[in-house]
Amino acid sequence: MDKLPHPPVSSFVRGVAKCGRDSHRKLTQYAAQYGGIYSIRFYHQKVVVLSDPTIVHQVLAREGPFGLLDKAAAGYFGIDVLTFGRPSLLSHPTHSDAWRHVRKSVSPAFATRNIKNGLPHVVSVAGQLVSALKALGPEAVVDMDRAAQRESLDVIGRVGFGKDYGATRCLGGDEAESALSTLQKGMVEAQKYLSSPLRPYLWFFPDVRKGRRDLNAFHSMIRVLLAELRARGPPADDDTTIAAHLLRMRDPATGLPLSDEQLLPEVSIIFAAGLETTGHTIAWTLYLISQHPEAEARVVSELDAAGLLVTGSCPHPRTLTFDDLGNLPYLSACIKESMRMYPVAASGTSREAPAPMLLGGYHIPKGTQLWSLARMNYTAALALLLSSFSFRLAAEMGGEAGVRASECMSVTLQPSKGLLMHCIPRPC
Ligand code: HEM
Repeated sequence: MDKLPHPPVSSFVRGVAKCGRDSHRKLTQYAAQYGGIYSIRFYHQKVVVLSDPTIVHQVLAREGPFGLLDKAAAGYFGIDVLTFGRPSLLSHPTHSDAWRHVRKSVSPAFATRNIKNGLPHVVSVAGQLVSALKALGPEAVVDMDRAAQRESLDVIGRVGFGKDYGATRCLGGDEAESALSTLQKGMVEAQKYLSSPLRPYLWFFPDVRKGRRDLNAFHSMIRVLLAELRARGPPADDDTTIAAHLLRMRDPATGLPLSDEQLLPEVSIIFAAGLETTGHTIAWTLYLISQHPEAEARVVSELDAAGLLVTGSCPHPRTLTFDDLGNLPYLSACIKESMRMYPVAASGTSREAPAPMLLGGYHIPKGTQLWSLARMNYTAALALLLSSFSFRLAAEMGGEAGVRASECMSVTLQPSKGLLMHCIPRPC
């Protein structure tokens, strides 16, 4: 049996520990060098990194020879600091009763019918963002990464928690800005925990103590959100928000509604997982389309053919419908390609080998962690933004090289200094 290819041990640990927020670059570099399956040693842990789609598919399938692979607790250690130091839906092993219970309870919130019901809200939020950007005019330099985060905050606020953050009504300083920056600082700290499992023991360093304060601020914000949800009383029968499903949950052991302490990790993970992932995906896609005029032309003609594009003869196109989302193949392909090039969940998913196994022709010892990548797309907001504007990278970004240099990991892959763009209204 061939030995798994692997970079020198010291090179990876040094790379990740010194520049945790750059770890995706190391992993990408190694994937190019060593292929779709290679091993690294992360502190004491042996890790196999997978990017070969066939092997990733095998590993993530719940049926078949690898169906026993489960989430590796160590791989979610950094995420759990966001969720009050306790496991959440994201980090519970999928074979555990806790995961099954929460997952079963919140799944109806993600059923097609409920998602479909949320579309008018997405359309209205994206419409508000379009109006706010139009008001700024084409000369203005706009951080489209932040603007996309605001759009996602309004969507997750409403669909997740029935709360209107008003983040897209105007793009100025307000409750939304404070929520986003509190989350962002929490994510920066979570990334540091992901990169350095020793961090909890280094409490005497000022940077660690500042990080602790940032996490506490995030936790306080989630406590306030849960208190707001509680103050509304028991959710109505027709309340399909994710929060309503969480509040209806009962402890399987006692049959009682869940306590605040049980709910807080789940509320925080929905808030954190739902927001940055979507916002950065929208931003990266806008950036890539802005760099490829031929791709932009095809997106534009697709939107035009669907009657969604703002043109001289059609300044107020029809409202986007749920069916449109499945009928914009070129835009969807652009989003998928942007997710391939800029996978926001670049810290990947982590699975643990419960027993020795063969993977991609290599022997994987028991206890080895396996990382992989996944994707999702948000078509509606992009369709509406691209129907109304042509986006141009602002000179302040320093071109493509500047954007590349600014990439960083804070749990999600993002442009560290935002994505400064001009929004040129259509028809342009
Ligand atoms: C572009 C958008 C998104 C991307 C790329 C993304 C990525 C991922 C990935 C890779 C996982 C698997 C983690 C693992 O198994 O280790 C995951 C799980 C999860 N995501 Fe997302 N996500 C996105 C949007 C969202 C949104 C909008 C929400 C909430 C409304 C959300 C909530 C969750 C939750 C709760 C889990 C855990 C699911 C479970 O284990 O049952 N994500 N996401």
